[in-house]
Amino acid sequence: MPKDKPSRTALKVAFSIVTLGSKPGMEAILPSGIVDATRKLLVASGAAGEITVKWAQSQTSVAIYEAFDWMLPGQFEAFAHRKAFCERQVREGIDDGATQILVLGAGYDTLGWRLAPEFSKVKFFEIDHPATAHLKARGIESMGRRKNLHLVAGDLGKRKLSDVLKNDKSWDLSAQTVIIAEGLVMYLSPEAVRDLFCQSAALVGSGSRIAFSYIPAGADGRPDAGLWTGLMLYLQKVAGEPWIWSIRPEELGEFLEETGWTISHEEAGGARKHGVEFYAMATK
Ligand SMILES: C[S@@+](CC[C@H](N)C(=O)[O-])C[C@H]1O[C@@H](n2cnc3c(N)ncnc32)[C@H](O)[C@@H]1O
Repeated sequence: MPKDKPSRTALKVAFSIVTLGSKPGMEAILPSGIVDATRKLLVASGAAGEITVKWAQSQTSVAIYEAFDWMLPGQFEAFAHRKAFCERQVREGIDDGATQILVLGAGYDTLGWRLAPEFSKVKFFEIDHPATAHLKARGIESMGRRKNLHLVAGDLGKRKLSDVLKNDKSWDLSAQTVIIAEGLVMYLSPEAVRDLFCQSAALVGSGSRIAFSYIPAGADGRPDAGLWTGLMLYLQKVAGEPWIWSIRPEELGEFLEETGWTISHEEAGGARKHGVEFYAMATK
């Protein structure tokens, strides 16, 4: 991705959430409070103007997003399912004893900001590429900082996760943790993804979980986004955020095993798929 520019794909996810808030039926899927918080964050961070965000809430916007779904069928609504999946993993993880949450490649995700007051004894961490992280931090500052939410800037394609977290004294290596990597791994090199999973396993206590979304690899080994894969790969590349990493769902269990994680059978086998992405969860 362009080194000095905030992520466009993060902006796209955030706008999709705002627009999905105006689509009938989506309130049953979207996590509570997410639309309002995302709308506020976009404006407070300066990532978007108030008029643009208002327009994103219109029925015209819903219709436009739906019209563009031909390229990636189901991907518009998939963002709501993805957010719901991640939030469920975090809530279940906390119920299960997790005291630390780490959102990797957080973009304009509001999970940490929304859940931090509800779970005041849990520490929330977010990491993103500096250009996006700094904008996000500005927004969070203006919306109201949470004392148990730590925003960290770091390029995970260049720096090891342990290096990025090293300076944060509140990170606890033995704490039961939930790690979220939503819409992230496709943007990293195979070496960086392997390293990210290995490092993640080494940085958390037992009973931890990692939940993530990924694009399945097709027969040719490239990310498989369906009929329009070639066009999508081209558009992502032109946008400066190419899809690089993918994996065949049937090979995911072995990959996770090699990196220190055990795939959750409930999530295994590609049962969870919305749009072009699969969702997975693994435990340590
Ligand atoms: C598609 S967006 C997803 C944002 C967020 N997870 C969500 O779903 O709302 C991808 C995010 O990954 C981040 N990202 C991509 N490459 C990264 C890298 N090398 N280091 C840190 N973050 C990265 C981008 O800045 C962006 O915020």
